[in-house]
Amino acid sequence: MTHTQTQTTLVLGGTGKTGRRVAQRLTALGRPVRVGSRSGRPRFDWQDQATWAPALDDVAAVYVSYYPDISIPDAVEAVGSFAELAVRSEVRRLVLLSGRGEPGAELAEQAARGSGAELTILRSAWFAQNFSEDYLLGPVLAGEVALPAGEVPEPFVDADDIADVAVAALTRDGHAGQVYELTGSQLLTFAGATGEIARATGRQIRYLSVPIDEYAAAAAAQGVPAEAVELLSYLFSEVLDGRNARIADGVRRALGREPRDFTGYARRTAASGVWDTRPSGLRADDGDQRAVGHVTPDLLRG
Ligand SMILES: NC(=O)c1ccc[n+]([C@@H]2O[C@H](COP(=O)([O-])OP(=O)(O)OC[C@H]3O[C@@H](n4cnc5c(N)ncnc54)[C@H](OP(=O)(O)O)[C@@H]3O)[C@@H](O)[C@H]2O)c1
Repeated sequence: MTHTQTQTTLVLGGTGKTGRRVAQRLTALGRPVRVGSRSGRPRFDWQDQATWAPALDDVAAVYVSYYPDISIPDAVEAVGSFAELAVRSEVRRLVLLSGRGEPGAELAEQAARGSGAELTILRSAWFAQNFSEDYLLGPVLAGEVALPAGEVPEPFVDADDIADVAVAALTRDGHAGQVYELTGSQLLTFAGATGEIARATGRQIRYLSVPIDEYAAAAAAQGVPAEAVELLSYLFSEVLDGRNARIADGVRRALGREPRDFTGYARRTAASGVWDTRPSGLRADDGDQRAVGHVTPDLLRG
């Protein structure tokens, strides 16, 4: 076993949609993992630089997932400063989770490159798991998904594929300097994705196209914080304009296999019970509903 195999990997956002999966995979490989988040030990907070150095102590590689979003201006300074500190702390490898076709995200990528670390960038499409582990879970459970997403198709990526690529880049040679565009294998509109979930669950789930202003006003009225409303409006109006409406080859280049598809994600997730709305007494496994209660989407619950 080499030195790096026994040294710790810090997984930022290690309780989130991708970080949790990265941490699970590394642990299964027998690699020591430290979860970097506000609930981690030691605590890691992007807003509190004093927490960064203790989290980096004796760490060889870091999975960097910025919060709330890699495309916001604050991410440039934070990701750049963090990457520099990591290199000074003798971290060798950084794997940065980024977004596709987002100029703001590319500025943060550039800041990380400036650190001189062995860097792999994962430019990811919209996650399929937003429908089951984040702000679209509530609408799916309520039976109506109302979004200002228009008719533009998106190649939703499975967070399990992101984690597979991240772990390859964290643990194996040959990925430093690569920029992988990670998408799924199907182009679907948000209406199409909702239809896949309806089919997989056997439930009626309506998709409603709403104007962006109406969407923002409804989110604000539901108590969603102003910054989150602004971020979602930016993502739906500017990023979802057709620039990303194509399948990319990042998963194949990194792993030598095709990406998972949305239909399979919908089928597996439906089988897990996360989208189940039947009263608990009627379900085979009551534990599934507790899993729903456990997910606390940070931005928006419809
Ligand atoms: N969602 C998408 O479709 C998508 C697509 C492309 C790129 N991305 C990028 O993915 C990144 C993660 O976003 P996500 O929505 O998927 O979130 P997420 O990783 O599912 O969840 C948030 C994670 O960040 C941690 N966290 C929250 N506030 C924090 C803070 N102040 N300091 C440190 N850690 C904090 C949370 O743990 P604690 O609560 O314990 O702190 C949790 O582990 C963003 O940079 C986003 O731009 C997302």
